[in-house]
Amino acid sequence: MVQYSNELKEEIRAANDIVDVISQYVTLKRSGRNYFGICPFHREKSPSFSVSPDRQYFHCFGCHKGGDVFTFVSEIEKLSFKETVEFLAERGHVTLPAEQDEGFNEKQYLKDRMYKINLETTLFFHERLYQPLAKIAQNYVKERKLDNATLKAFKIGYSGEYNELYKHLKSKGFKDNEILATGLVNKNDRGEFIDRFRKRLMFPIMTVNGKVVAFGGRRLDNNEKTAKYINSNENLIYSKKQHLFALNLAKQTNDKQIILVEGYMDAISLHQRGIKNVVASLGTALTEEQGRLLRKYSEQVLMSYDSDGAGQEAIMRGLEILGAQGCDARVIQMEGAKDPDEYIIKYGSERFKLLAKNAISLVEFKIKMIRSKYDLENATDKVRFLKEITKVLSKVENNIEREIYIGKVAEQYKISKEAIYVEVNKQTYKNQASKDNIKSRPIHKEEINQEEISESIIKRENMVLYLLINHYEESVIDITSNIVKEDFKLEVNQKIFEAITEAKEKSKDRILQVLSNIEDNELQSQISEIMLSDYEITSVQKCIEDIIINYTKERLNNRKLAIIKELENPSLPREDASMLEVELNNIIIELAKM
Ligand code: CTP
Ligand code: MN
Repeated sequence: MVQYSNELKEEIRAANDIVDVISQYVTLKRSGRNYFGICPFHREKSPSFSVSPDRQYFHCFGCHKGGDVFTFVSEIEKLSFKETVEFLAERGHVTLPAEQDEGFNEKQYLKDRMYKINLETTLFFHERLYQPLAKIAQNYVKERKLDNATLKAFKIGYSGEYNELYKHLKSKGFKDNEILATGLVNKNDRGEFIDRFRKRLMFPIMTVNGKVVAFGGRRLDNNEKTAKYINSNENLIYSKKQHLFALNLAKQTNDKQIILVEGYMDAISLHQRGIKNVVASLGTALTEEQGRLLRKYSEQVLMSYDSDGAGQEAIMRGLEILGAQGCDARVIQMEGAKDPDEYIIKYGSERFKLLAKNAISLVEFKIKMIRSKYDLENATDKVRFLKEITKVLSKVENNIEREIYIGKVAEQYKISKEAIYVEVNKQTYKNQASKDNIKSRPIHKEEINQEEISESIIKRENMVLYLLINHYEESVIDITSNIVKEDFKLEVNQKIFEAITEAKEKSKDRILQVLSNIEDNELQSQISEIMLSDYEITSVQKCIEDIIINYTKERLNNRKLAIIKELENPSLPREDASMLEVELNNIIIELAKM
């Protein structure tokens, strides 16, 4: 087990600004001293995720995740602490000391070999496509109208028979365990090595930077008994949900807009016909990771999924995901073809570009879906339709946007604008009322007290730590001479207080470092929440005084109650009782003075 020194961690931290790192995953907007965005760790509509460049901390006030750059990367990339250090060291160009841990090195080495195998395999399949024995694949490619430039651009290939790839990779010096790790070859019960992809048209799947991580292989006949596509399984270097087919090529267009399609063939076909800002989600429902990736390389995403029911349903979910990432997501509506490949072959790229230009928004898409359920010639249907769409319209927060939609709907479905307004207003009122209702829900009296006490206590405790962290020099003496660890009700706060007061070198910077080096997610989350809270402190001095008075009062009150209880004890010796009475008197006087 490798232990990295705190100095090294500091160096890596310094080389990875938290705002830069998080910006790769989340769209951040600056507001005041901090940045805000949509939390990548839980689903939310309005941003409660904040990042402090000064403190180099992040915190989500919705899901309470928080911490420093290491915590963030480890959570979002799902890495162990060690892997996180390695990840950020590489990102920040910090050289790690010579590795003593064999396992660590081995894994890196294996990954490296897997990339090499994938590259070698890509070339092997690709060259094989041009050989005489690949006649069937060549015919298929012709039938699908793929030209040579396209075959080259996508490195399309043809996989061999039985164990041709295995033999080829062995001849290039790759070891069995390395080959098996890629999943390109499997070992059967009899101990024989057999290629996973045989006699299929091969599509390499690459990272944004063009590294091959996996393959998809299409069958060349119409035999419905075999799978149309076989894909690589997930492995050490491939996680399906994090990749988009052709993103490496789409990225090169530097277009602010990306067209998202479902299939390999759709992406390839559009690309060949001059529409190169296109990527494929590979048949799966769009994942949040893919959404983030799209957001990173574009501002607007046009979804062009298959026109069947499944495709339309996948769109709805995809739009929500992209919307949550802050993407302007729209839908390309297509008639007369089942998918973009068929469409562009049939009608040409100009017609497709026109479709792209007329892509519709989520709201319009929802309205269209609702429309398809009703017969608008029928009066009752029309009323129901109006009710349903006004529900959607009333949720559009931007007034101007809502106006535009209402205008469009009125015109398109021949409904008077006034009628729509009346319904939308009713709906808005309903939405509001149900929100208010949640707030004014009657709560049991004890419940209120319990909540109030614990919340205000926690707020006060957090405030003490906030002062210690953010105004260390001004507050440390007063606080530590009046407040002790046991005064904190939350265990995490006790630990943080302890870490601060036990720090050997006493300076604000040193305290921040000590805190950052605590490897405990719960603690880090609490630290970041405290750091990024806005307590609106105008005078630090006044604030410290108030808090100390608060704590002293509480302590005196507790003592008062304890004495009163003791005095009720009939077997208490007279002498003790009179001593307690004196003390009680003093406490009452002191409390009155405060
Ligand atoms: N897919 C898959 N396995 C299947 C079917 C589909 O992995 N058995 C994935 C592939 O990534 C495929 C995508 O889902 O590209 C979309 O499926 P489909 O529309 O059927 O494929 P196309 O790419 O359009 O292929 P083709 O035109 O050759 O039918
Ligand atoms: Mn297709």
